[in-house]
Parts: sequence; structure tokens; C-alpha cells
Amino acid sequence: MTAERVIGVIGGSGVYDIAGLEGATWQAVETTFGAPSDELLVGYYDGVKMVFLPRHGRGHRFTPTSVPYRANIAAMKMMGVTDLVAVSAVGSLREDYAPGDFVVVDQYIDRTFARAKSFFDTGLVGHVSVAHPTCARLSALCAEAARKIGVTVHAGGTYVAMEGPQFSTQAESELYRSWHADVIGMTGMPEAKLAREAEMCYACVAMVTDFDCWHPDHDAVDVAQVVATAIANADKARNLVAALPALLKGPAETCAKGCTHALDGAIMTAPAK
Ligand code: ADE
Repeated sequence: MTAERVIGVIGGSGVYDIAGLEGATWQAVETTFGAPSDELLVGYYDGVKMVFLPRHGRGHRFTPTSVPYRANIAAMKMMGVTDLVAVSAVGSLREDYAPGDFVVVDQYIDRTFARAKSFFDTGLVGHVSVAHPTCARLSALCAEAARKIGVTVHAGGTYVAMEGPQFSTQAESELYRSWHADVIGMTGMPEAKLAREAEMCYACVAMVTDFDCWHPDHDAVDVAQVVATAIANADKARNLVAALPALLKGPAETCAKGCTHALDGAIMTAPAK
């Protein structure tokens, strides 16, 4: 059986809606894990169903720690999302990833510590692989969409997920650079891990807003800088989202490994007799 393709988009700082969806309606969804960050905007682009959710809620009400990550991913799954694209504002940890550039992330270093990170809990034990935490097929299409709309895009990059809400100290920023991480943000995890547990194809398009605080020629990052660049980038993010349906037509694909098969052999709990 082939599933209908449904493209999900989680918008980060500066991206609280998407324009041009046909028949768009905001729909409330309740999940076993509580309410998601906001209602979901559901409509069609180019004949393809799209579901949009602002990660921090309209009006930016959730801190990176308080975002209901499990409810957000559960809501996307309940809406039938097959291909989930996350847009996130990040700081750059390298000279050649400049504010305004997009980075299609393919690895993470998860330094978050105060968030629920799994759908599994006492009673049902499962361990999925996140060795390759994003979907290579969907990530390549996101990079193609970014090129198509004329954005400077880096295909591949390691994202340090920090707890926040404070930005990093200079020593931390330099430590992450010594680990060869490329970008830093506060919301990339556990979102990617949960999408994997939910067997959805997931890609992360990181929009660089600043050089974090390691860069000798730039002021230490502050909210004004992040917001100004995120808003300047928001139209590019919306254009990228609008370019996706043309690249993602037809029924949903399955991935040979990971993503759509993440739960194959992942459950440790014995079945009930
Ligand atoms: N989001 C945007 N810029 C950031 C930075 N420098 N550190 C952490 N999160 C960010």
C-alpha cells in the first residue's frame, strides 16, 4: 500500500506561518503527549497536502526547553505527515557559514538535558538508531529547493543542540568548534530523535543568523541580531517551503534504512503472552 504524501513543516524563530496554502485552516490537535505548540495550519500547495506548525507557537511563547517536542511530532504523525522539514535559526561556528546562509544539517551533538527525549517509557522499551539522524533523500531535496530559490546552501553540517536559553560562553563556543561542529541552536534535539522514533523522514534546514560568540570580528550574539536576521531569512524559508511540493510529488517513498523502518527490530519489551 502506498501512503499519500504529506509534507510537514516546523517553523523556527521568525517563521510563524507559511503563505499561499490553498484552503488553509488552523486545526487544533490533541495528542497522548499533550497539546502541540499551536494549532496546525493545514492546506495544499501545488496539489500536495502540507501541515505547518510554528515550533515556538504564534507569538513565540515556548522557550527551547518548554517546546512540547513529543506532542509536536505526535501531532505531525497523526496528521499523516510522511516528510517532515524543520526550519531552525542557528549560530555559525565556522567562518564560511555566514549569516543568511542555509545549512542542511546531517549530524547532531545533543547537549540538551532538560527535555523528554523519547516516546518510549516504562512498559515499552525501544532503541532506534540515530547514527544517521536525518533522511538523506529529503535532505538532498531541501538543498535542491534552496539552490532553486537562489539561497547559499551548505549540504551537510553538524548541529550542536544546546539547552539554553542563555547563549554559549566563549569557551563553550570554542570547544564546539574544536569538535568540528558547524552550527549551534537550541531546538534541533530531541526533535530529530523523536521524528526517527515516529518513523518519519526528517530534514533540518538551519538558517544562519549570527557567528555565535567565538568570532573575533563580530559582537557576541544577542536576540536583536538573531531576530533581525531570522526575519530577513523568513521569506527565503517560505520560498523554500513553496518549492518543495514540485520536488516531492507522487506517493510517499519508503527509505531502505532508518526513517520509515526505524522501528524494525527496535523493541526490546517481550510481547504479551
Ligand atoms: N540560535 C540562533 N543563534 C544561536 C546561537 N548563536 N546559539 C544558540 N542558538 C542560536
